[in-house]
Amino acid sequence: MLTKLPALLLLLASQRLVNAVNFAWEETQLTKDDIGTFNSIAFADTAAAPSVPVDSNVNLTASSGRECKVGPWDAAWPTEVEWAAFNTSLDGALIMTVPQGAVCYPNNPHYDKAACAAVVEATGDTGGIVVDPSNIVQPWSAGEPCNITETPIGNCTLGGFPVYIVNATMVKHVQLGVNFARNKGIRLVVKNTGHDFVGRSVGAGALSIWLHNLQGQKFLPDFTGSNYRGPAAQIAGGTQGWQVYNFMADNNISIVAPGESTVAILGGFTAVGGHSALTSYHGMGSDQALQLQVVTADGRFLQVDTDNNADLFFAMRGGGGSTYGIVTSAVVKAFPPLTLQTAQFMWSGSLDANFSSPNIDPSTGAITVDKEAFWSGVREWIQFSRSVSSGKTKMSL
Ligand SMILES: Cc1cc2nc3c(=O)[nH]c(=O)nc-3n(C[C@H](O)[C@H](O)[C@H](O)COP(=O)(O)OP(=O)(O)OC[C@H]3O[C@@H](n4cnc5c(N)ncnc54)[C@H](O)[C@@H]3O)c2cc1C
Ligand SMILES: *[C@@H]1O[C@H](CO)[C@@H](O)[C@H](O)[C@H]1NC(C)=O
Ligand SMILES: *[C@@H]1O[C@H](CO)[C@@H](O)[C@H](O)[C@H]1NC(C)=O
Ligand SMILES: *[C@@H]1O[C@H](CO)[C@@H](O)[C@H](O)[C@H]1NC(C)=O
Ligand SMILES: *[C@@H]1O[C@H](CO)[C@@H](O)[C@H](O)[C@H]1NC(C)=O
Ligand SMILES: *[C@@H]1O[C@H](CO)[C@@H](O)[C@H](O)[C@H]1NC(C)=O
Ligand SMILES: *[C@@H]1O[C@H](CO)[C@@H](O)[C@H](O)[C@H]1NC(C)=O
Ligand SMILES: *[C@@H]1O[C@H](CO)[C@@H](O)[C@H](O)[C@H]1NC(C)=O
Repeated sequence: MLTKLPALLLLLASQRLVNAVNFAWEETQLTKDDIGTFNSIAFADTAAAPSVPVDSNVNLTASSGRECKVGPWDAAWPTEVEWAAFNTSLDGALIMTVPQGAVCYPNNPHYDKAACAAVVEATGDTGGIVVDPSNIVQPWSAGEPCNITETPIGNCTLGGFPVYIVNATMVKHVQLGVNFARNKGIRLVVKNTGHDFVGRSVGAGALSIWLHNLQGQKFLPDFTGSNYRGPAAQIAGGTQGWQVYNFMADNNISIVAPGESTVAILGGFTAVGGHSALTSYHGMGSDQALQLQVVTADGRFLQVDTDNNADLFFAMRGGGGSTYGIVTSAVVKAFPPLTLQTAQFMWSGSLDANFSSPNIDPSTGAITVDKEAFWSGVREWIQFSRSVSSGKTKMSL
C-alpha cells in the first residue's frame, strides 16, 4: 500500500490544478447533436491536413484559379439555402452586413435621412462605431465604401466590409462561425471594437464574428492558479475600457486596462501588448492574463493557462489578435485600488485661409508657443488638477 503512494501523488500533481472559470454563456457549446448531418458546421478532423475543407464541394484551387478563399464572386460560395441553414444553427444570430453609412445614401434601400443624421452624430465618437456589427474606427482600411456623411457622393457598397456577421452571445456561436468559415473555405475575420489601425477587424468577402455582445465582469477575490494566488477578475471578451473602469470602482480594485475608453481589454490589447496608465506599476496588458477561454481554428473550446495548452498561453500573450484563437473570456490580475488623475493639455492656434498659422514655422513645420501662453497653460493645468476631487469617478458612454 505504502509503495503505491508516490505514484498516486505524481498522478495528482499532473492533473489540472485550476478549473476553467466560465461565464454561464460559455457553458453553451457546440455538440455533436447540434451538428447532426450538417457537415458544414462540423469540427475539423484534426487528423487530416489542416487546410483541407471537409465540405467536398469546396475546391479552393478550382474556385478562383489559385489558392484563395471563396468569396461571393465564386461558384462555391454557399447558396442562400446554406446560409439560412447556418443561421438556423445559430438560432437566428446571423446578420447580413448593412454598412453603417447605408442610411445616408439616397440610392440605398436603407436610406433614411433622420437615421443618417443620428449616425453622423453618434459616430463622431468611437462609442458609436463599436456598437455597429461591421464598422471600424479606421474605415480607410475597408476602402471607405460607404461614408457616414449627410452629403455623400457615389453609392454605398460593401467594399472591404464582411458579407455576413455572427452576432455572438455564446461560445457555440463562435464555434459555429469558425467551423462554417473553415469548412466552406471562407475568409474569417473577428471584430471586437474595430479599433485596429490597419483593418484587421474587417475583410472583403468575409464572414465576421462580432464579439461585442460577449459581456460580463466578475471579481474573484481569491483566485488560485499554479503560479498565482490573489485577487483577480473574470472578464468577458467584448468588455471595453470604460466598463473595466466602472468595474474597478465598484469593487475597489485596479486592473491594467486600455487608456482609450472604447478599446477592448481582451482583444488586441491583451494579444499584442497593451499600454495602460498603470503599466509602469503592474506591467502590460499581455502580462495580466492568468487564464484564457479560447475557440481555436478547429472549432474546439479550450482552457488556456500555464497548466492547460501552455503553448497557446505563451503565444496568445503577445502573438497578435485573432492569430491563434478567439478569446471569449479571461481571468486577469486585480490589484489594490490606485487612484490616479490624468490630464491632457494642448495649445492651439487658429489657421488662416491658407492653413498656415503664425505659430507654425513654414520652413520646418515646427510649432512654437510663446512663453506667456506656455506658462498660462501650465497654470490652468495645475488649477484644474487641484480642483478635481480625489474620489472615484464613474464613466459611462
Ligand atoms: C483611438 C485609439 C486609442 C487607443 N488607445 C490605446 C491605449 O490606450 N492602449 C493601448 O494599448 N492601445 C490603444 N490603442 C490600440 C488598440 O489597443 C489596438 O488597436 C487593439 O488592437 C484594439 O483591439 P480591439 O479588440 O479593441 O479592436 P479590433 O479592431 O476589434 O481587434 C483588433 C484585432 O484583434 C482581433 N481580436 C479582437 N478581439 C479578439 C478576441 N477576443 N480574440 C481573438 N482576436 C481578437 C481582431 O480580429 C483584430 O485582428 C488605441 C487605438 C485607437 C484607435
Ligand atoms: C480542384 O480543381 C482543380 C482545377 O479544376 C483540379 O485540378 C483538382 O483536381 C480539384 N481538386 C479536388 C480535390 O477536387
Ligand atoms: C437569421 O434569422 C433571424 C431570425 O429568423 C432573422 O431575423 C435574420 O434576418 C436572419 N439572418 C439572415 C442573414 O438572413
Ligand atoms: C468616401 O470618402 C473618401 C474620402 O473622401 C472617398 O475617397 C471615397 O470615394 C468616398 N466613398 C464613397 C462611396 O463615396
Ligand atoms: C449609383 O447607383 C445608381 C442606381 O443603381 C446608378 O444609376 C449610378 O450609376 C450609380 N453611381 C455610381 C457613381 O456608381
Ligand atoms: C445581437 O444579439 C443580441 C442578443 O440576441 C440582440 O439583443 C442584438 O439586437 C443583436 N444585434 C444585432 C445588431 O442584431
Ligand atoms: C479599498 O481598498 C483599500 C486597500 O485595499 C482599503 O484601504 C479601503 O478601505 C477600501 N475602500 C473601501 C471603500 O472598501
Ligand atoms: C494665402 O496665400 C496667397 C498666395 O500665396 C496670398 O495671396 C494670400 O494673401 C494668403 N492669405 C492669407 C490669409 O494669408
